[in-house]
Amino acid sequence: MGRPRPRDYGTGERFFFVSKLPCGSISHDRSTYVFPVTPPLQSVPATPGNNRRPARRPRYSGKNPRKFHEKYKELSPDRYPGTIQKVEGAGKTPAGMHRPICVEEILKILDPQPGSRGVDATLGYGGHALQILERLKPGGFLLGLDTDILQLPRTEARLRALDFGPAMLEVVQTNYAGIDRLIATRWAEGVDFILADLGCSSMQLDDPDRGFTFKSHGPLDMRMNPGKGPSAAQWLATIKEDKLARALREFGDVPGAEAVARTLCEARKIRAPQTTTELTDLVCRALPCSNGHTPKPKDPAVEPAIRRVFQAVRIAVNDEFSALETFLRVVPACLKPGGRLAILTFHSGEDRRVKSAFKQGLTKGVYSTISNDILRPSAAEIRSNPRASSAKLRWAIRGPTPAVVVANEACAS
Ligand SMILES: C[S@@+](CC[C@H](N)C(=O)[O-])C[C@H]1O[C@@H](n2cnc3c(N)ncnc32)[C@H](O)[C@@H]1O
Repeated sequence: MGRPRPRDYGTGERFFFVSKLPCGSISHDRSTYVFPVTPPLQSVPATPGNNRRPARRPRYSGKNPRKFHEKYKELSPDRYPGTIQKVEGAGKTPAGMHRPICVEEILKILDPQPGSRGVDATLGYGGHALQILERLKPGGFLLGLDTDILQLPRTEARLRALDFGPAMLEVVQTNYAGIDRLIATRWAEGVDFILADLGCSSMQLDDPDRGFTFKSHGPLDMRMNPGKGPSAAQWLATIKEDKLARALREFGDVPGAEAVARTLCEARKIRAPQTTTELTDLVCRALPCSNGHTPKPKDPAVEPAIRRVFQAVRIAVNDEFSALETFLRVVPACLKPGGRLAILTFHSGEDRRVKSAFKQGLTKGVYSTISNDILRPSAAEIRSNPRASSAKLRWAIRGPTPAVVVANEACAS
């Protein structure tokens, strides 16, 4: 190999041969090139006089990357479709992606038709939106909402690149609690269907920089919109002990909620938790083993409690239940008569609220039909995407036809 030479692969970015990579665990072809820039690598524009060193593929120990930001192939699905297929085949979600859940069931319920218009209130990665958009051709329209200022532009770019222009798709960064105002200013008569797929996307959960997961070390942020409101660390630094205990109980059914709240509030007299690891360690300290030892985070006796604490803090920081309650109150007014609504929930606090709102709507005649029970992903879907396992799907159809409850199968027919 000669000295490093810039080489243009026709994308306008510069890629480099690297001559002096140490021999080691990285295979020959990978060690020969610095790969084209993918998140989180920085691209180096091929401008004359730009002498900055090129971005390098992240180094990792072992044969395969394990950390989120090292998974450069998964973070570039267009370049490495084979890797994506392999990861999905193993029942995992590739880094930086989200796999839509209950797609067939949702399409049957919402029944998007050419020329009709609807809203995806939680656009996420755009998995559901893409399937819906395909069915809206020609002449249909989808309004996509999401609160996530970091992921939304990427999702919009991805959908635009698939040829869904402004005539078919509008993307708005907003909280779905304000859906009624958005619809009123666009279509006074309402829309044909609305989808809400609640909770976090895999992009949010898996990225340690977002601080949603106890499984990796990162800043304790947890905001779906990092531009708004206090982070989890700031919230935990100021919340009163009794309010914290209530939030842990109500939002996460955390066992020993009082003990966890006490330990967190005691600890913050010295230092409030700033990272996911610090919060995890404090929960472990709050819930000692029967022999008095502090459990390890992976201890099956404490892991579910840690998971629940993270869920409760996330719900509180993002004010998720207030947003959902407002959405459920205003959403009937956004639907045309006969318009269809599908909501995918992931824990009992969400499902309880949806079930109760649908029942009340049915009683008042706001909805003509609601699902009499939850729909769940098939066993095959759960096998291929274990993240689907806690999903519950409910649907409702806007009145004014007489109010009846029918079996799930009847909606699809
Ligand atoms: C489960 S993901 C949706 C995934 C999407 N259906 C897909 O197929 O890619 C949930 C999304 O809802 C967004 N979200 C959560 N709460 C929201 C709110 N109150 N308003 C708007 N978006 C919200 C999150 O930022 C996240 O991107």
